[in-house]
Amino acid sequence: MTIIAPSMLSADFGNLQEEIKEIELAGADFLHIDVMDGHFVPNISFGPMVYKPIRSKSNLVFDCHLMVEEPRKYIKDVVDAGADIITVHIESNDDVEEVVKEIQSYGIKGGVVLNPATPISAIESVLPIVDQVLVMSVVPGFGGQSFIDSSVDKIKELDDIRKASGYDYLIEVDGGINSETSKRCVEAGVDILVAGSYVFDSDNRKARIQSLAEKNNN
Ligand code: DX5
Ligand code: ZN
Repeated sequence: MTIIAPSMLSADFGNLQEEIKEIELAGADFLHIDVMDGHFVPNISFGPMVYKPIRSKSNLVFDCHLMVEEPRKYIKDVVDAGADIITVHIESNDDVEEVVKEIQSYGIKGGVVLNPATPISAIESVLPIVDQVLVMSVVPGFGGQSFIDSSVDKIKELDDIRKASGYDYLIEVDGGINSETSKRCVEAGVDILVAGSYVFDSDNRKARIQSLAEKNNN
């Protein structure tokens, strides 16, 4: 089953609680939460204090994507605010293996993210320990960008490595996902589809979520 993870970055922040409830009732599985520090990416989004109040009101899996230079500093706060999964960039300043082990020590899942320009070889050493690998299919920082086609090959490569090695990480893709790009990613072996603008910029979010789920679960 493909997991659908709408990205909160494209939600209406003035109406956050209702927006998150709406996508949960529409059939979303995860809530993708983009934390940006204005250094690692040229944009500032929000921190743990913004999604913490929603935690007790939502049954979605909270999937926190940290686009920050020094993720280690924030792990405890991100966990305390209710994260179920935290992914950290291999391009960050911290040792990702150590950060992932710290995340997992709190009893939640830890994963690694790679930017479009970063090859799979850069994350090879952490593949045996991660629960999730997030393939960025746009340059991180903003919603609403176009899908970078070479991401499909990366997903396939990660799926091949997983099959050959017996690793059990889930593969997630983030950026430019819609009904067409999602299909190519699922064929290549992706497990989790992050979708921001495709879901939230629609008058019928339920239809968008269901179209991603239906198209990709046959
Ligand atoms: C981009 C973020 C994404 C973003 C995706 O830096 O990591 O999660 O919200 O937005 P769309 O689906 O609109 O490309
Ligand atoms: Zn993201």
